[in-house]
Amino acid sequence: MEDKPVVPAHLGIIMDGNGRWAKKRSLPRTAGHAEGLKALKRVICEAARQGIGYVTFYTFSTENWKRSEQEVKYLMHLFVSKIHGELAFYNKHGIRILARGDLNGLPEEVRHAIEQTVLETSNNTTITAIVAINYGGRDEICRAVNKFLSKNPGQGITETAIADNLDLPQVPPVDMIVRSANEKRLSNFLLWDSAYAELAFYEKFWPDWNEEDIRKVCHDYSQRVRKFGGVE
Ligand code: FPP
Repeated sequence: MEDKPVVPAHLGIIMDGNGRWAKKRSLPRTAGHAEGLKALKRVICEAARQGIGYVTFYTFSTENWKRSEQEVKYLMHLFVSKIHGELAFYNKHGIRILARGDLNGLPEEVRHAIEQTVLETSNNTTITAIVAINYGGRDEICRAVNKFLSKNPGQGITETAIADNLDLPQVPPVDMIVRSANEKRLSNFLLWDSAYAELAFYEKFWPDWNEEDIRKVCHDYSQRVRKFGGVE
């Protein structure tokens, strides 16, 4: 009997290249984000077909506030209209939505759209899509430490204390982080979890990603030997 191919239980995606995709077509950067959302939908469906349990999408970092007011405004509008606006799509495909990041730092209507969507997709079981929004790995670790200390004043910080107080402690650590558009850095994404994550970088701009790219990611993951500091 053939073994089922190994896929990551949790895949993290840094969706890069939206701006360059748009520039190449003489379009505004915002057009790249709109097209990036279409790619996200293609990718999540194929990830579910491949048997991936969790996919975390880096949609807005704690550093992205530095972008032009117009771009930030557009992204916030996209989050409000599309996160909850795609409810029928999530339910059709069994997609549960969770969020990771400092939601308190988001405009009220964005936070509300996210909270509603999390609630209304909580019974979906095919795949969990995690929206990393106003997310920074360093910020998440600081918030986890403060959360722990407020519950356990004066106690020492341990790895378990931090892991148990991250935004989504019930979600398994990320197995593989991929980034599009040929940039090779983590940019403050899932810093705690990524200690032993596999990393892979791909040339294509994010809006061009399709089902085949996720199948390639799964194939690349299946070729990795994970030792977690031990020996094979
Ligand atoms: C990075 O590319 C992309 C982002 C900061 C935004 C990603 C957001 C989406 C794909 C939309 C998701 C929408 C919902 C509703 C979840 P970049 O702009 O930095 O690209 P560049 O490096 O080519 O300029």
